[in-house]
Amino acid sequence: MNVASTITVPNHIAIIMDGNGRWAEGKGLPRVAGHRAGVKTLRKLVEHSVKLKLNAITAYAFSRENWQRPDTEIKLLMDLFISALRSEVEDLHSNNVKLQFIGDRSAFSSKLQHSISQSEKLTITNSGLRLNIAANYSGRWDIISALQSVARDIELDKMTAADINETLFCDRLSLAGLIDPDLFIRTGGEQRISNYLLWQTAYTELYFTETLWPDFDAEQFDLAIKWYSKRQRRFGKTPEQIEQTLKS
Ligand code: IPE
Ligand code: IPE
Ligand code: MG
Repeated sequence: MNVASTITVPNHIAIIMDGNGRWAEGKGLPRVAGHRAGVKTLRKLVEHSVKLKLNAITAYAFSRENWQRPDTEIKLLMDLFISALRSEVEDLHSNNVKLQFIGDRSAFSSKLQHSISQSEKLTITNSGLRLNIAANYSGRWDIISALQSVARDIELDKMTAADINETLFCDRLSLAGLIDPDLFIRTGGEQRISNYLLWQTAYTELYFTETLWPDFDAEQFDLAIKWYSKRQRRFGKTPEQIEQTLKS
């Protein structure tokens, strides 16, 4: 049975797609084979998310810290981003997916920047699943960028320090206008945030699994959603208060 027909599905899921390298190494393959398999996993889960009618997926593809990896791995990853965009964007478009990238894209080659902006332009009016890809992203970079934007407006006398509040600040973050992730999934066994959506995950439910990203399938995705549906989200209130609201 479709998981969506039995339980409340989260509106927005943030994913750290981790474990590609170990998956490949476990099979005696080069790490890039794991990244290639990882693209296929994302593609399948996007199709699944469209069926579940999720509002948004924000997937971590490349962190600002990942530039510290060996040059060969970075080069292969960049080539893979270009080829994956080329092969997947038409399908995403026909599935009514709105694709958007978050992160500092200016560090990418002009070819990759072009592919990114073309794919965003093609899908910008789509009204289905919002697929955000975090590339050259980090949570601290996001917060600093928002802060710089606020500071510039103060310098220009457009506002004062007293005007700063959560709403104003959120509007300058990468995922402005999108509800915070309800569920965070990290595959690959590590239980850390690795500088992902630091601000936006303040009240997100955190789900960690040992499964390596290329092995993470629709069934396991559904398990994570079922786990989420059993959580009581209290946002600081007592359990009794939450139960009361559900009854009324
Ligand atoms: C995640 O998989 C993908 C990227 C960071 C680009 P990893 O490459 O980190 O895989 P492991 O953690 O080494 O297995
Ligand atoms: C996080 O994975 C980044 C992505 C999945 C893109 P890493 O493998 O880079 O994280 P750490 O280094 O283990 O924290
Ligand atoms: Mg990793």
